[in-house]
Amino acid sequence: MIRLANMTKRFSGHAAVDDVSLTVPEGGFLVLLGPSGCGKSTMLRMLAGLDQPSSGRIEMGGRLVADGSALSLPPERRNAWLVFQSYALWPHMTVAGNVDWPLKVARHPDRAARVEEALAMMGIADLAGRTLSEISGGQQQRVALARMIAQRPKVMLFDEPLSNLDATLRVEMRHEIARLHKATGATAVYVTHDQIEAMTLATHVAVLNKGRVEQFAPPQALLDSPASAFVARFVGTPPANLIPIRAGAWFRRLPDPQLPQIDGHAMLRAEDLALKGPGPRALKAQLMGSIPMMGQRLLTLQVEGTRVTAIAPPAVPLTETMLVTLPDTASVIFDTEGYRLP
Ligand SMILES: Nc1ncnc2c1ncn2[C@@H]1O[C@H](COP(=O)(O)OP(=O)(O)O)[C@@H](O)[C@H]1O
Ligand SMILES: [Mg+2]
Repeated sequence: MIRLANMTKRFSGHAAVDDVSLTVPEGGFLVLLGPSGCGKSTMLRMLAGLDQPSSGRIEMGGRLVADGSALSLPPERRNAWLVFQSYALWPHMTVAGNVDWPLKVARHPDRAARVEEALAMMGIADLAGRTLSEISGGQQQRVALARMIAQRPKVMLFDEPLSNLDATLRVEMRHEIARLHKATGATAVYVTHDQIEAMTLATHVAVLNKGRVEQFAPPQALLDSPASAFVARFVGTPPANLIPIRAGAWFRRLPDPQLPQIDGHAMLRAEDLALKGPGPRALKAQLMGSIPMMGQRLLTLQVEGTRVTAIAPPAVPLTETMLVTLPDTASVIFDTEGYRLP
């Protein structure tokens, strides 16, 4: 179990991580998701014990491991292991040597058995005697994961581990990490800016924006009920349409919009928009672009200056000007500040 209470990290007055509180059960998979610079790595470093919070507490496995500046257990006493995007492996050492190294440093008694088991689990037993320069990038990633498994950590920490890999390998390694998590029963904390990774791996996602948690929820809840316009834009493929609803906006001209009188946005998913004939809720739109997507086409359209995305089934002909039919209601409305109305 991991519990963060008001965790804050300031660098010369600026809060890189700002009052984060959340709890993940043992065996859970927490993804820290957000754009570059939002404080993901800083959070992970504090969990690993490489950095100390300015204030706030971190509990791991029922144990207090950090409490502001008063207490910070060193990394080796946290039963956690961190995998980076640059794998931090020794290039001149063999594969087995790399996996063995931290065990050797810790003077572990059953090193050989652990190394063998970890290599087998990652499917790289046949590479044991090769040096790092003799194996591919994907295989190096497997070595970095094997080195972690050999430690049998209670908490596995990952900082964008797949961002150096090509697209095919990334999918493969994502499955490997999911498998590892299941097989070991460890609690995982995984940092990424890639929402697909978040949606496929996580039991819990913390969406971060400028050091603060915008929303902490299971992956599906981020799609069904995003807490803010930031989350709605960041999560979901394609990103949700945010339609202005201020007085005089075109969305107001549709019959029965049942909208609050505020200067916010209505959220509509691409699949909520229909491309069919004229009707009371149909509007003229300019076609700006089209990309194929799973046998259909994803369209970028413009309705009076607002860009919207819609999905065109194969039977719908694409023309310069098209009719977009809006749904009867928008179930999610964001206020002027971008937060969801209850
Ligand atoms: N050691 C440091 N000293 C000063 N500022 C830092 C330090 N580490 C990170 N920061 C700042 O904290 C913010 C969050 O950084 P980081 O956690 O690396 O973001 P992310 O991993 O989400 O891209 C950034 O503004 C970054 O410049
Ligand atoms: Mg980072």
